[in-house]
Amino acid sequence: MLGEVLLSMVDITKIFPGVKALDKVSLNVTPGEVHALVGENGAGKSTLVNIVSGVHQPDGGEMYFDGMRYAPTSPRKAQEQGIGFVHQETALCPHLSVAENVFLGRMPRSMSVLASFKQAREETGKLLGRFATQLDPITKVQDLSIANQQVVEIIKALSLDCRLLILDEPTSSLTELETENLFRIIKDLKQRGISVLYISHRLKEVFTVCDRITILRDGRYVKTLAVQDTTEDEVIRNMVGRSISTFYPEKIGQGQEEIIRVEGLTRGNTFRNVTFAVRKGEILGFAGLVGAGRSEVARAVCGIDGYDMGHIHLDRKAVQFESFHDAIQARIAYLTEDRKEEGLFLNMAIQPNVSVTSLESITENKLIHRQKERDLAKQSVNMLRIKASSLMQKVVNLSGGNQQKVMVAKWLAIDPMVLFMDEPTRGIDVGAKTEIHYLMRQLANRGVGVVLISSELPEIIGMCDRVVVMNEGLLTGELIGSDITEDNIMRLAATQRRETA
Ligand SMILES: Nc1ncnc2c1ncn2[C@@H]1O[C@H](COP(=O)(O)OP(=O)(O)OP(=O)(O)O)[C@@H](O)[C@H]1O
Ligand SMILES: [Mg+2]
Repeated sequence: MLGEVLLSMVDITKIFPGVKALDKVSLNVTPGEVHALVGENGAGKSTLVNIVSGVHQPDGGEMYFDGMRYAPTSPRKAQEQGIGFVHQETALCPHLSVAENVFLGRMPRSMSVLASFKQAREETGKLLGRFATQLDPITKVQDLSIANQQVVEIIKALSLDCRLLILDEPTSSLTELETENLFRIIKDLKQRGISVLYISHRLKEVFTVCDRITILRDGRYVKTLAVQDTTEDEVIRNMVGRSISTFYPEKIGQGQEEIIRVEGLTRGNTFRNVTFAVRKGEILGFAGLVGAGRSEVARAVCGIDGYDMGHIHLDRKAVQFESFHDAIQARIAYLTEDRKEEGLFLNMAIQPNVSVTSLESITENKLIHRQKERDLAKQSVNMLRIKASSLMQKVVNLSGGNQQKVMVAKWLAIDPMVLFMDEPTRGIDVGAKTEIHYLMRQLANRGVGVVLISSELPEIIGMCDRVVVMNEGLLTGELIGSDITEDNIMRLAATQRRETA
């Protein structure tokens, strides 16, 4: 097995101001192997693959690709050598169409601009077909959900003929179905001798699709294990340095009292006639496939986007939030799935990012009380184990999972009455994920109505007291207690409900 090596990394070191992100990491990828890279948030996974894809240059060590010295000075150079990549954060051009994004910078050569657009559309259509998705190549990327943007990134990487494909958390917003499609494609690549470097916090996926697993901890190489010779538990122990419980907190919430009731909420075809209530002290799940309209409903309720018809009652009084700010005033909050677009001030430090939603509680005589602000941020950093060099570190320089933790921290700080959480544990490592789950349950036990939108069925099943399921903009059913099973949810997620006029 060790005979042939496609990519070899030897003693790779990378230093950022204040952090040694990688400390002499070595790794081999063989032809046709799917090699997983795992580790806690901030362990150095993205930094390592960013060096392979030419985004960063190492401060020490060397790489070999196909037996030759390999030192790409830019992503383009890496691409030319046969490296394809899907980054953790999507980097598409929002105002261009799906097809234009897929062929960005290398539109097919044709007689005319129109003909080349047509060709790009057709090629993109074919690739989308392999993914079995309903996406239209001419849709603008800005109109797509995060999950669909992720699909476009994957298709873009697949459209380049690569020998090594790097996937940095490709499934963090995908549901079971899309993930299965991706796995089918990976198996196909493997058969054609193409290698994959695969980063994921979802260990079940790693065990399904990968051959070997390399574990990083604090920028250092821990070990490489063959999937058939190891267990999830062993991997977690090596990642975290200890055993941790991955159990879900006990369900005790079964609220009766309604805090917020939504009736007949409708916006065009996006969602229609959606009726549900959130009760005090419960965790209500929103399940469904990507594009079912779950985020859209939550955003409309929270005043971020509008709606055409319907009513919202808060504590039995009719309300209509004109803006997100209105909703926050009423202690209704929405934790977005898109931290880059609307969640965080990336160029600001951790401290103000955490406190921005709870300025009232840390303001004295119209001035921000710095010590209180610091305490609040420090508490969050400790509670969620945010890995940073200091509270004043800019959020943009944190690893993906640590950015997500900052966002969770800021919404936990406002003391909400209803908290909509859209993919709250996206990209978060196993240990911190359990911690966020316990915090959510604590909130519910304090009487908060928590709404969980998640693409991970086990998370919905493990966490929720009640689940409503959506399909294509319609609510197709509700499940309570022991009826919350994978089979029942999947059935409702595929149900075509007949619309009542
Ligand atoms: N551009 C940068 N400037 C300064 N520090 C950085 C930069 N990029 C990454 N870091 C730091 O390097 C370390 C490793 O980050 P990296 O993004 O590689 O982690 P990761 O393993 O991908 O984590 P996650 O699972 O959260 O995505 C972290 O401490 C991070 O804060
Ligand atoms: Mg990362």
